[in-house]
Amino acid sequence: MNIKYLGHACFLVTSGEHALLLDPFLDGNPAGAAKAGEVSATHVFVTHGHDDHFGDAASIASRCKATAYATVETAGRFPKEVMVEVGQIGGFVRAPFGGVKFTAAAHGSAVPGGLACGFLIEAEGKKIYHAGDTGLIMDMALLADEGVDVALLPIGDRFTMGPRDARRAAGLIKPKQIVPMHYNTWPIIRQDPEQFKKDVEAETGIPVTVLSVGGSLAC
Ligand code: NI
Ligand code: MN
Repeated sequence: MNIKYLGHACFLVTSGEHALLLDPFLDGNPAGAAKAGEVSATHVFVTHGHDDHFGDAASIASRCKATAYATVETAGRFPKEVMVEVGQIGGFVRAPFGGVKFTAAAHGSAVPGGLACGFLIEAEGKKIYHAGDTGLIMDMALLADEGVDVALLPIGDRFTMGPRDARRAAGLIKPKQIVPMHYNTWPIIRQDPEQFKKDVEAETGIPVTVLSVGGSLAC
């Protein structure tokens, strides 16, 4: 399995014939690794309706005939031709690549009545947690029992956890590995990921991999 960072909160997880695309914000991203037209996916995940997450989800899912995953409310933003597997926080959905659990996030959704979420993706017996946009929440402690292999955590601050709270999140989740996200896309979420790495590793002993935009991690 391979996890490629396409910038901001967007990752492409490749597992066998499956290409799982999370929060594809590409054409609007001043620092994205690819344009929407260059990316293919079999499954597209959207944590919430903000444009820096929903982004190019509809156009990519439509062009690739990919199955989308979103909460019931966020699903309403997809055009009719896109097949959306809906769920809500706490729910698990079996899928051809394995499955996905919708996890809690403390954040707006940009969709009336909807909640932002995170995703715990299971593939090849591994678990990848994409936190979405969220502040630090005690619900993250529930993930410690899940045995998360890789946690993708926002560190940008202002709209999500900053580095210090992401470090506390690491202590609650206890993943085997962490990859920071949702920083340096714009000056208002500027952070030093290398300092985050040093601090997390010193405090928790959990290894942090800082991916450059376009970089990947084998897992
Ligand atoms: Ni957001
Ligand atoms: Mn965001």
